[in-house]
Amino acid sequence: MYNSKIAGLGAYVPENVVTNDDLSQKMDTNDAWIQERTGIKERRHIKKGDGNTTAKMGVKAAQIAIERAGITKDDIDMIVFATLSPDYYFPGCGVQVQHLMDMKTIPALDVRNQCSGFVYALATADQFIKTGMYKNVLVIGSENHSGGLDFSTRGRSVSVIFGDGAGAAVLSREEDTSKGVLSSHLHSQGEHALELCLEGPSTEHWVPQIIQENPQENIPYYPYMNGQFVFKNAVVRFSEVIMEGLGKNNLTPDDIDMLIPHQANLRISQFVQKKFGLSDDQVYNNIQKYGNTTAASIPIALTEAWENGKIKEGDTVVLAAFGSGFTWASSIIKW
Ligand code: ACO
Repeated sequence: MYNSKIAGLGAYVPENVVTNDDLSQKMDTNDAWIQERTGIKERRHIKKGDGNTTAKMGVKAAQIAIERAGITKDDIDMIVFATLSPDYYFPGCGVQVQHLMDMKTIPALDVRNQCSGFVYALATADQFIKTGMYKNVLVIGSENHSGGLDFSTRGRSVSVIFGDGAGAAVLSREEDTSKGVLSSHLHSQGEHALELCLEGPSTEHWVPQIIQENPQENIPYYPYMNGQFVFKNAVVRFSEVIMEGLGKNNLTPDDIDMLIPHQANLRISQFVQKKFGLSDDQVYNNIQKYGNTTAASIPIALTEAWENGKIKEGDTVVLAAFGSGFTWASSIIKW
Protein backbone atom coordinates (compact mmCIF):
# COMPACT_ATOMS: atom_id res chain seq x y z
CA MET A 1 0.00 0.00 0.00
CA TYR A 2 1.05 3.53 -0.77
CA ASN A 3 -0.22 6.96 0.21
CA SER A 4 -0.90 9.79 -2.19
CA LYS A 5 0.44 13.33 -1.79
CA ILE A 6 -0.37 16.62 -3.44
CA ALA A 7 2.65 17.14 -5.69
CA GLY A 8 1.44 20.27 -7.50
CA LEU A 9 -1.36 22.83 -7.29
CA GLY A 10 -2.76 25.35 -9.76
CA ALA A 11 -5.67 27.75 -10.08
CA TYR A 12 -7.24 29.92 -12.74
CA VAL A 13 -10.01 32.51 -12.54
CA PRO A 14 -11.39 34.61 -15.43
CA GLU A 15 -10.10 38.20 -15.62
CA ASN A 16 -13.57 39.75 -15.53
CA VAL A 17 -14.22 41.07 -11.98
CA VAL A 18 -17.88 41.58 -11.01
CA THR A 19 -18.36 43.66 -7.87
CA ASN A 20 -21.43 43.79 -5.64
CA ASP A 21 -22.14 47.25 -7.06
CA ASP A 22 -22.09 45.77 -10.57
CA LEU A 23 -24.77 43.27 -9.50
CA SER A 24 -26.89 46.01 -7.95
CA GLN A 25 -27.19 47.53 -11.44
CA LYS A 26 -29.02 44.36 -12.54
CA MET A 27 -31.13 43.46 -9.50
CA ASP A 28 -32.41 44.83 -6.22
CA THR A 29 -29.40 44.14 -4.02
CA ASN A 30 -26.56 46.12 -2.46
CA ASP A 31 -22.96 45.79 -1.35
CA ALA A 32 -23.82 46.04 2.36
CA TRP A 33 -26.32 43.13 2.25
CA ILE A 34 -24.02 40.85 0.29
CA GLN A 35 -20.96 41.55 2.46
CA GLU A 36 -22.86 41.26 5.73
CA ARG A 37 -24.65 37.99 4.85
CA THR A 38 -21.89 36.25 2.85
CA GLY A 39 -18.58 38.11 3.15
CA ILE A 40 -18.34 38.36 -0.64
CA LYS A 41 -16.96 41.60 -2.14
CA GLU A 42 -16.51 40.48 -5.73
CA ARG A 43 -16.40 37.41 -7.92
CA ARG A 44 -15.15 36.50 -11.41
CA HIS A 45 -17.48 35.82 -14.32
CA ILE A 46 -16.58 34.40 -17.70
CA LYS A 47 -17.04 37.11 -20.31
CA LYS A 48 -18.54 36.26 -23.67
CA GLY A 49 -15.68 35.81 -26.11
CA ASP A 50 -12.91 35.31 -23.52
CA GLY A 51 -12.59 31.69 -24.59
CA ASN A 52 -13.26 30.22 -21.15
CA THR A 53 -15.43 27.18 -20.50
CA THR A 54 -15.52 24.86 -17.50
CA ALA A 55 -13.16 22.40 -19.24
CA LYS A 56 -10.83 25.10 -20.60
CA MET A 57 -10.46 26.80 -17.20
CA GLY A 58 -9.74 23.35 -15.77
CA VAL A 59 -6.97 22.90 -18.34
CA LYS A 60 -5.38 26.24 -17.38
CA ALA A 61 -5.33 25.27 -13.68
CA ALA A 62 -4.09 21.76 -14.55
CA GLN A 63 -1.17 23.02 -16.63
CA ILE A 64 0.12 25.01 -13.65
CA ALA A 65 -0.36 22.07 -11.26
CA ILE A 66 1.46 19.65 -13.59
CA GLU A 67 4.40 22.02 -14.05
CA ARG A 68 4.68 22.56 -10.30
CA ALA A 69 4.60 18.80 -9.74
CA GLY A 70 7.72 18.59 -11.92
CA ILE A 71 6.16 16.13 -14.34
CA THR A 72 4.61 16.34 -17.81
CA LYS A 73 1.11 15.63 -19.07
CA ASP A 74 2.40 12.27 -20.33
CA ASP A 75 3.07 11.19 -16.74
CA ILE A 76 -0.62 11.59 -15.79
CA ASP A 77 -2.37 8.21 -15.44
CA MET A 78 -5.94 9.41 -14.90
CA ILE A 79 -8.12 12.53 -14.84
CA VAL A 80 -10.84 13.07 -12.22
CA PHE A 81 -12.93 16.17 -12.96
CA ALA A 82 -15.43 17.61 -10.46
CA THR A 83 -18.08 20.06 -11.63
CA LEU A 84 -21.79 20.83 -11.46
CA SER A 85 -21.55 23.00 -14.58
CA PRO A 86 -20.08 20.82 -17.35
CA ASP A 87 -19.73 22.27 -20.85
CA TYR A 88 -22.18 19.67 -22.15
CA TYR A 89 -24.98 17.61 -20.64
CA PHE A 90 -22.80 14.73 -21.84
CA PRO A 91 -19.99 13.81 -22.21
CA GLY A 92 -18.27 15.17 -19.12
CA CYS A 93 -15.38 17.61 -18.88
CA GLY A 94 -12.76 14.95 -18.07
CA VAL A 95 -12.64 13.68 -21.64
CA GLN A 96 -12.39 17.25 -22.92
CA VAL A 97 -9.33 17.82 -20.75
CA GLN A 98 -7.80 14.62 -22.15
CA HIS A 99 -8.35 15.99 -25.66
CA LEU A 100 -7.47 19.66 -25.04
CA MET A 101 -4.21 18.69 -23.33
CA ASP A 102 -3.40 16.14 -26.02
CA MET A 103 -2.94 13.40 -23.44
CA LYS A 104 -2.69 9.66 -24.00
CA THR A 105 -5.95 7.68 -23.91
CA ILE A 106 -5.95 7.66 -20.11
CA PRO A 107 -9.20 7.23 -18.13
CA ALA A 108 -11.24 10.35 -17.44
CA LEU A 109 -13.91 10.35 -14.75
CA ASP A 110 -16.41 13.10 -13.90
CA VAL A 111 -17.58 13.58 -10.32
CA ARG A 112 -21.04 15.13 -9.69
CA ASN A 113 -20.89 16.14 -6.06
CA GLN A 114 -21.19 19.91 -6.26
CA CYS A 115 -19.47 21.75 -3.40
CA SER A 116 -18.06 18.49 -2.03
CA GLY A 117 -16.90 17.54 -5.53
CA PHE A 118 -13.22 18.28 -5.12
CA VAL A 119 -12.90 16.32 -1.87
CA TYR A 120 -14.83 13.40 -3.42
CA ALA A 121 -12.55 13.61 -6.48
CA LEU A 122 -9.42 13.72 -4.34
CA ALA A 123 -10.62 10.73 -2.31
CA THR A 124 -11.32 8.81 -5.54
CA ALA A 125 -7.87 9.60 -6.96
CA ASP A 126 -6.30 8.67 -3.62
CA GLN A 127 -7.83 5.19 -3.77
CA PHE A 128 -6.38 4.53 -7.25
CA ILE A 129 -2.94 5.55 -5.98
CA LYS A 130 -3.19 3.71 -2.64
CA THR A 131 -3.86 0.40 -4.39
CA GLY A 132 -0.84 0.92 -6.65
CA MET A 133 -2.92 1.08 -9.82
CA TYR A 134 -1.82 4.63 -10.76
CA LYS A 135 1.11 6.91 -9.88
CA ASN A 136 -0.12 10.37 -10.87
CA VAL A 137 -3.77 11.43 -11.01
CA LEU A 138 -4.89 14.89 -12.15
CA VAL A 139 -7.76 16.17 -9.99
CA ILE A 140 -9.67 19.22 -11.24
CA GLY A 141 -12.55 21.28 -9.86
CA SER A 142 -13.98 23.86 -12.24
CA GLU A 143 -17.23 25.81 -12.60
CA ASN A 144 -18.93 28.16 -15.01
CA HIS A 145 -21.79 29.35 -12.83
CA SER A 146 -22.37 32.76 -14.34
CA GLY A 147 -23.87 31.43 -17.56
CA GLY A 148 -26.74 29.76 -15.71
CA LEU A 149 -27.77 32.21 -12.98
CA ASP A 150 -30.88 34.36 -12.76
CA PHE A 151 -29.58 37.94 -12.53
CA SER A 152 -33.04 39.43 -12.03
CA THR A 153 -34.21 40.28 -8.49
CA ARG A 154 -36.03 36.93 -8.42
CA GLY A 155 -32.69 35.08 -8.37
CA ARG A 156 -30.76 37.41 -6.08
CA SER A 157 -30.44 35.11 -3.05
CA VAL A 158 -28.54 32.59 -5.22
CA SER A 159 -26.90 34.57 -8.00
CA VAL A 160 -24.91 37.00 -5.82
CA ILE A 161 -23.10 34.07 -4.18
CA PHE A 162 -21.58 32.17 -7.08
CA GLY A 163 -18.48 32.82 -9.16
CA ASP A 164 -16.49 31.11 -11.92
CA GLY A 165 -13.03 29.56 -11.71
CA ALA A 166 -10.94 26.41 -11.56
CA GLY A 167 -8.39 24.70 -9.36
CA ALA A 168 -6.32 21.57 -9.87
CA ALA A 169 -4.03 19.22 -8.01
CA VAL A 170 -1.64 16.51 -9.13
CA LEU A 171 -1.93 13.65 -6.70
CA SER A 172 1.18 11.43 -6.78
CA ARG A 173 2.37 8.22 -5.16
CA GLU A 174 3.98 8.68 -1.72
CA GLU A 175 5.94 5.72 -0.35
CA ASP A 176 5.96 7.06 3.23
CA THR A 177 2.48 6.21 4.51
CA SER A 178 2.77 8.69 7.39
CA LYS A 179 2.62 11.50 4.80
CA GLY A 180 0.13 12.73 2.21
CA VAL A 181 -3.61 12.05 2.28
CA LEU A 182 -4.09 10.23 5.61
CA SER A 183 -7.83 9.67 5.22
CA SER A 184 -10.98 11.00 3.56
CA HIS A 185 -14.54 10.91 4.90
CA LEU A 186 -17.50 11.11 2.54
CA HIS A 187 -21.22 11.40 3.26
CA SER A 188 -24.55 12.01 1.53
CA GLN A 189 -28.19 12.58 2.48
CA GLY A 190 -30.35 12.55 -0.64
CA GLU A 191 -33.57 13.29 1.20
CA HIS A 192 -32.51 16.95 0.96
CA ALA A 193 -31.63 16.83 -2.75
CA LEU A 194 -34.23 19.43 -3.74
CA GLU A 195 -33.22 21.94 -1.04
CA LEU A 196 -30.29 23.00 -3.27
CA CYS A 197 -30.64 21.96 -6.86
CA LEU A 198 -31.04 22.74 -10.53
CA GLU A 199 -34.05 20.66 -11.59
CA GLY A 200 -34.01 21.27 -15.30
CA PRO A 201 -33.22 20.76 -18.02
CA SER A 202 -33.04 17.10 -17.08
CA THR A 203 -34.77 13.84 -17.90
CA GLU A 204 -37.45 14.89 -15.41
CA HIS A 205 -37.80 18.33 -16.94
CA TRP A 206 -36.97 18.44 -20.63
CA VAL A 207 -36.89 21.93 -22.12
CA PRO A 208 -40.12 21.63 -24.16
CA GLN A 209 -41.96 20.48 -21.03
CA ILE A 210 -40.55 23.35 -18.96
CA ILE A 211 -41.67 25.93 -21.49
CA GLN A 212 -45.14 24.37 -21.69
CA GLU A 213 -45.63 24.17 -17.92
CA ASN A 214 -43.96 27.44 -16.95
CA PRO A 215 -44.35 29.88 -19.81
CA GLN A 216 -43.28 32.84 -17.64
CA GLU A 217 -42.87 32.02 -13.97
CA ASN A 218 -41.05 29.63 -11.63
CA ILE A 219 -38.69 28.37 -14.28
CA PRO A 220 -36.84 25.41 -12.75
CA TYR A 221 -33.78 25.78 -14.92
CA TYR A 222 -32.24 28.30 -12.55
CA PRO A 223 -30.64 26.96 -9.36
CA TYR A 224 -32.85 26.83 -6.26
CA MET A 225 -31.48 27.07 -2.73
CA ASN A 226 -33.31 26.97 0.59
CA GLY A 227 -30.57 29.20 2.04
CA GLN A 228 -31.31 29.07 5.75
CA PHE A 229 -31.93 25.30 5.75
CA VAL A 230 -28.69 24.72 3.87
CA PHE A 231 -26.84 27.05 6.24
CA LYS A 232 -28.10 25.23 9.35
CA ASN A 233 -27.14 21.82 7.96
CA ALA A 234 -23.78 23.11 6.73
CA VAL A 235 -22.51 24.28 10.11
CA VAL A 236 -23.43 20.95 11.73
CA ARG A 237 -21.99 18.73 8.98
CA PHE A 238 -18.78 20.75 8.59
CA SER A 239 -18.06 20.32 12.28
CA GLU A 240 -18.98 16.62 12.31
CA VAL A 241 -16.89 15.65 9.31
CA ILE A 242 -13.83 17.57 10.52
CA MET A 243 -14.06 15.83 13.91
CA GLU A 244 -14.54 12.47 12.17
CA GLY A 245 -11.32 12.99 10.19
CA LEU A 246 -9.32 14.21 13.14
CA GLY A 247 -10.57 11.35 15.35
CA LYS A 248 -9.66 8.73 12.75
CA ASN A 249 -6.06 10.01 12.87
CA ASN A 250 -5.87 10.50 16.65
CA LEU A 251 -5.70 14.26 16.17
CA THR A 252 -7.55 17.12 17.85
CA PRO A 253 -8.48 20.59 16.56
CA ASP A 254 -5.25 21.87 18.21
CA ASP A 255 -3.29 19.82 15.65
CA ILE A 256 -4.79 21.67 12.66
CA ASP A 257 -2.17 23.86 10.96
CA MET A 258 -4.43 24.86 8.09
CA LEU A 259 -8.16 24.36 7.57
CA ILE A 260 -9.38 24.96 4.02
CA PRO A 261 -13.17 25.05 4.24
CA HIS A 262 -15.30 25.07 1.11
CA GLN A 263 -15.99 28.76 0.45
CA ALA A 264 -19.80 28.78 0.67
CA ASN A 265 -20.34 31.70 3.01
CA LEU A 266 -17.79 33.51 5.21
CA ARG A 267 -20.20 33.22 8.13
CA ILE A 268 -20.13 29.41 7.88
CA SER A 269 -16.30 29.40 7.92
CA GLN A 270 -16.25 31.81 10.86
CA PHE A 271 -18.72 29.62 12.78
CA VAL A 272 -16.50 26.57 12.27
CA GLN A 273 -13.34 28.53 13.14
CA LYS A 274 -14.90 29.72 16.40
CA LYS A 275 -16.25 26.28 17.28
CA PHE A 276 -12.79 24.74 17.00
CA GLY A 277 -11.00 27.71 18.60
CA LEU A 278 -8.79 28.26 15.54
CA SER A 279 -6.85 31.46 14.90
CA ASP A 280 -7.07 33.44 11.64
CA ASP A 281 -3.72 31.87 10.63
CA GLN A 282 -5.22 28.38 10.85
CA VAL A 283 -8.11 28.97 8.43
CA TYR A 284 -7.87 30.16 4.82
CA ASN A 285 -10.72 32.13 3.27
CA ASN A 286 -10.85 33.84 -0.12
CA ILE A 287 -14.62 33.93 -0.72
CA GLN A 288 -14.30 37.73 -0.46
CA LYS A 289 -12.58 37.75 -3.91
CA TYR A 290 -14.18 34.85 -5.74
CA GLY A 291 -17.57 34.06 -4.19
CA ASN A 292 -18.58 30.42 -4.06
CA THR A 293 -16.93 28.55 -6.92
CA THR A 294 -18.37 25.18 -5.80
CA ALA A 295 -16.02 22.33 -6.85
CA ALA A 296 -13.27 24.84 -7.61
CA SER A 297 -13.39 26.60 -4.26
CA ILE A 298 -11.19 24.24 -2.24
CA PRO A 299 -8.45 23.81 -4.88
CA ILE A 300 -8.34 27.58 -5.55
CA ALA A 301 -8.07 28.31 -1.81
CA LEU A 302 -5.52 25.54 -1.28
CA THR A 303 -3.42 26.84 -4.17
CA GLU A 304 -3.50 30.39 -2.82
CA ALA A 305 -2.68 29.29 0.73
CA TRP A 306 0.29 27.31 -0.60
CA GLU A 307 1.43 30.18 -2.88
CA ASN A 308 1.28 32.56 0.11
CA GLY A 309 3.58 30.28 2.12
CA LYS A 310 0.84 29.37 4.60
CA ILE A 311 1.37 25.62 4.19
CA LYS A 312 4.73 24.01 4.87
CA GLU A 313 6.12 20.49 5.00
CA GLY A 314 4.87 18.50 7.98
CA ASP A 315 1.71 20.60 8.41
CA THR A 316 -1.64 18.99 9.10
CA VAL A 317 -4.01 20.35 6.47
CA VAL A 318 -7.75 19.72 6.69
CA LEU A 319 -10.11 20.09 3.72
CA ALA A 320 -13.83 20.19 4.48
CA ALA A 321 -16.88 20.72 2.30
CA PHE A 322 -20.67 20.68 2.38
CA GLY A 323 -23.18 21.28 -0.37
CA SER A 324 -25.93 20.18 -2.69
CA GLY A 325 -27.01 16.56 -2.38
CA PHE A 326 -26.64 17.04 0.49
CA THR A 327 -23.09 15.78 0.39
CA TRP A 328 -20.27 16.57 2.76
CA ALA A 329 -16.68 15.42 3.08
CA SER A 330 -13.27 15.97 4.64
CA SER A 331 -9.68 15.00 3.93
CA ILE A 332 -6.84 15.02 6.43
CA ILE A 333 -3.46 15.63 4.79
CA LYS A 334 0.04 15.50 6.28
CA TRP A 335 1.91 17.90 3.97
N1 ACO B 1 -29.81 41.33 -1.74
C1 ACO B 1 -30.67 41.91 -0.91
N2 ACO B 1 -31.61 41.23 -0.22
C2 ACO B 1 -31.66 39.90 -0.40
C3 ACO B 1 -30.78 39.23 -1.28
C4 ACO B 1 -29.82 40.00 -1.96
N3 ACO B 1 -28.92 39.45 -2.81
N4 ACO B 1 -31.05 37.90 -1.23
C5 ACO B 1 -32.07 37.74 -0.39
N5 ACO B 1 -32.45 38.95 0.13
C6 ACO B 1 -33.49 39.23 1.10
C7 ACO B 1 -34.57 38.17 1.12
O1 ACO B 1 -35.54 38.42 0.14
C8 ACO B 1 -35.10 38.29 2.54
O2 ACO B 1 -35.98 39.39 2.57
P1 ACO B 1 -37.31 39.34 3.50
O3 ACO B 1 -36.79 39.16 4.92
O4 ACO B 1 -37.95 40.65 3.24
O5 ACO B 1 -38.10 38.16 3.02
C9 ACO B 1 -33.88 38.67 3.37
O6 ACO B 1 -32.92 39.20 2.42
C10 ACO B 1 -33.26 37.50 4.11
O7 ACO B 1 -33.10 36.42 3.21
P2 ACO B 1 -32.51 35.05 3.67
O8 ACO B 1 -32.53 34.09 2.51
O9 ACO B 1 -33.17 34.62 4.94
O10 ACO B 1 -31.00 35.47 4.00
P3 ACO B 1 -29.85 34.66 4.72
O11 ACO B 1 -29.32 35.43 5.82
O12 ACO B 1 -30.26 33.23 4.98
O13 ACO B 1 -28.73 34.62 3.61
C11 ACO B 1 -27.74 33.04 2.11
C12 ACO B 1 -28.94 33.94 2.41
C13 ACO B 1 -26.53 33.95 1.94
C14 ACO B 1 -28.02 32.28 0.85
C15 ACO B 1 -27.49 32.07 3.28
O14 ACO B 1 -28.69 31.46 3.66
C16 ACO B 1 -26.47 31.00 2.97
O15 ACO B 1 -25.30 31.27 2.78
N6 ACO B 1 -26.85 29.70 2.98
C17 ACO B 1 -25.95 28.58 2.82
C18 ACO B 1 -25.31 28.51 1.46
C19 ACO B 1 -24.49 27.23 1.33
O16 ACO B 1 -23.78 26.83 2.23
N7 ACO B 1 -24.59 26.56 0.20
C20 ACO B 1 -23.91 25.27 0.07
C21 ACO B 1 -22.94 25.27 -0.97
S1 ACO B 1 -23.56 25.70 -2.56
C22 ACO B 1 -23.61 24.22 -3.52
O17 ACO B 1 -23.49 23.14 -3.07
C23 ACO B 1 -23.90 24.40 -4.97
